[in-house]
Amino acid sequence: MCGIVGYVGRKAATPILLEGLKKLEYRGYDSAGVAVWNGEKIEVEKAKGRLRVLVEKTDNGAFPVGSAGIGHTRWSTHGKPSDINSHPQTSGTGRTAVVHNGIIENYMELKEYLASQGVTFVSETDTEVVAHLFEHYYKGDLLEAAERVASVLEGSYALGILVADHPDTLVAMRHDSPLIIGLGEDENFIASDVTAILEHTRSVYYIEDKEIAILTGASVEVYDQHSRRVKKTPSHIDWDVQAAEKGGYEHFMLKEIMEQPAAVQATISPRIKNGRVELEIPLSDEDIRSFDRIYIAACGSAYYVGCAAARVLETLLHIPVLTQLASEFRYQSPLVDERTLVIIISQSGETADSRAALREAKRLGARTLAIVNVVGSAIAKEADMSLYTWAGPEIAVATTKAYSTQLAALYLLGIRMAEARGTVTPERYGELVAAVEALPGLIEKTLGIKEQTQQLASRWFSAEHVFFIGRGIDYAVSLEGALKLKEISYTMSEAYAAGELKHGPISLIVDGTPVIAVISDNRLFEKTLSNIKEVSARGASVAAIVCESARDISGEGVTPLTIPDCEPLFAASLSVIPLQLLSYYIASLKGCDIDKPRNLAKSVTVE
Ligand code: AGP
Repeated sequence: MCGIVGYVGRKAATPILLEGLKKLEYRGYDSAGVAVWNGEKIEVEKAKGRLRVLVEKTDNGAFPVGSAGIGHTRWSTHGKPSDINSHPQTSGTGRTAVVHNGIIENYMELKEYLASQGVTFVSETDTEVVAHLFEHYYKGDLLEAAERVASVLEGSYALGILVADHPDTLVAMRHDSPLIIGLGEDENFIASDVTAILEHTRSVYYIEDKEIAILTGASVEVYDQHSRRVKKTPSHIDWDVQAAEKGGYEHFMLKEIMEQPAAVQATISPRIKNGRVELEIPLSDEDIRSFDRIYIAACGSAYYVGCAAARVLETLLHIPVLTQLASEFRYQSPLVDERTLVIIISQSGETADSRAALREAKRLGARTLAIVNVVGSAIAKEADMSLYTWAGPEIAVATTKAYSTQLAALYLLGIRMAEARGTVTPERYGELVAAVEALPGLIEKTLGIKEQTQQLASRWFSAEHVFFIGRGIDYAVSLEGALKLKEISYTMSEAYAAGELKHGPISLIVDGTPVIAVISDNRLFEKTLSNIKEVSARGASVAAIVCESARDISGEGVTPLTIPDCEPLFAASLSVIPLQLLSYYIASLKGCDIDKPRNLAKSVTVE
C-alpha cells in the first residue's frame, strides 16, 4: 500500500523523507515523490518507478532544499502509475500539496463540484481532489480547512498536507487508513508506520480516526472531529532498528522465516504461567460457554491460518467453526448473532476487507476478537478484544512469522476456551499446554530442513505448475504453501484436498509434474499415500512432508521432507516450514524480487 512520510524541524527535510520512504518500500508501490517548502514555494519532485528514480532526480536528496516536507510511495488505485499521477498532488496554485493513502470514494462527486467552481484537474487521481478541496476551504485557518475537508470526504484516507501560507507546519488527518506522529527534539514526523521514522524517534502518537493534527518542529496539536483538543499519550516503540532491517539475510523473507521460533516464543510465553493459559482479553468463562459457534474471517494467508485453526477449535470446543474469506463474509448473510464469536485474523490490522468483515460482525451483534500483529492498528482498535501476535515488524510481503504466531495465538485461545467449556480433561489440558510450549523448539528443529528444500527447489524451480495436496489441517497448510509459491515465484500453484485429485484435477498431471503432499497426521498417512500413488502412476515428481515416526517412503519414489513429531492438532506450525522454504528457494533460483513481489502490497487497505 501507499507510504507516507512527513518532516518538520530544523534539518534538511528531503534526505529524511527519502530515507523514510526507503523504509516503506516493502509496502509495495509504483511511484514516489516529495514536496518541500524551499523558502519561496512548495517544490515538488516525483517520478514513476522505483524510489531510486526519485533519489536520482533529487540529486540524492540534495534538493528540494527546506526543513518542512511530505513524501509518498504510491501503490496505484485511481489512475495508472505515471509521473503526473504520483504524489504529492497539488492544488492549481501549487500552494497546497497532499500525500494520501486510501481511497476517496466520493471523489468524482467532489471533482464535479470543484470543476463547477472553476477548478481544472491534471491527474486521474482521487487525491488531487483533496488538494483542491483543501485550498477551496482554506481561509487562513489550517484546522478549520481540515475540518471542512474531513466533513465532505467519504472513504479511507491518511493525509499529509503542506500549505505555503504555513511553511513550517504540517497537517495530518486520517480515517480508515493508518497514520502516526513521531515526536522528536525540535522536530516532528508523520508516517504510515513506525519503520519509516524509527531511526529518529521511538516516541509516537497514533492518530485516531477523524482526528486532525497540526505539527510544527516545536509542537503537535491534535483535535477530534468536533474541534476539541485531544490530549495524546506518547507510545514507546521498542522494536530495535535491526529488527526492521535484514539482519544479514539476503531477504527479509528468509530472516522472518528464521525468526519464527523466537516470534512464536514471544507470542506464547506471556500467556502461559505455571502451566496455565492466561489471555489478556475480557473473555470470561461464562462468555466462552455462551458461544454456540465461531466464525473466522480473514484474507490470504491469514485466511489459511483460519482454515487450519478451525479444525483445531472444532476438535477442542465441539462447536461449529466456520472460516470465510473476509471479502465474502459480508455478502454471504453469515449466521452471526450475539452468541457468535467472530475472529478476525490480520497481520497488518489494516486490511480493508477484513475490517469490513469486522464491522459487519459487530453490526450483527457478535463478540469480536482480533488476532493482529500491529499494535494500535485499525482492526485491533475496532474489535471488542485483541490478541496480539508478538512477531515484531514483518517486512516481507509474503507472510511467514506472522502466520506462525497467528496459529500459536489461536492454539492458546482454543485451549483456554476448551477448559472453560469443560471439553478437555485436566490431563488433556496439560498435554496441550505442553505441546504449545514445545513449538518454538520444534520449529527451530524443523528449520534444519533447509538443505533438503533447497535440493527440491533446484529440481522443481523451472516447473510451470506445482500441486500441493493434503487432508484436514494438512489441506489448510497445502493452501498456504500454494499461495507462498504463487506470490513470490509467480509459479502456477494449486492446492487440492488429497481425495479430490481423482475427481478432476488429476487430468493435469503429466510426466514430471511436481506434487508435494503434506501428511503430518499419521492417521491419514495411508489414505494420502494412495493419492500419491495415483499421481506417481501418471509420472508426477512427488515429495511428501512426513513426521519422523511415519514409515519410510523414500523407496516408493517419493522425496520425504521429515518434520519432528508433535501434537497432531498443532502440526501446521511445523509442516508449513518446508513449504515456506521451498517457495523461497524456488523464487530465489528464478531471480524473483522476493520481498516485494510484483503487483502485491504488504497491506491491502483498499477493497
Ligand atoms: C500473504 O503472504 C499475503 N501477503 C497476503 O495474502 C496477506 O496474508 C493478506 O493480504 C492478509 O493480510 P493481513 O494479514 O495483513 O490482513
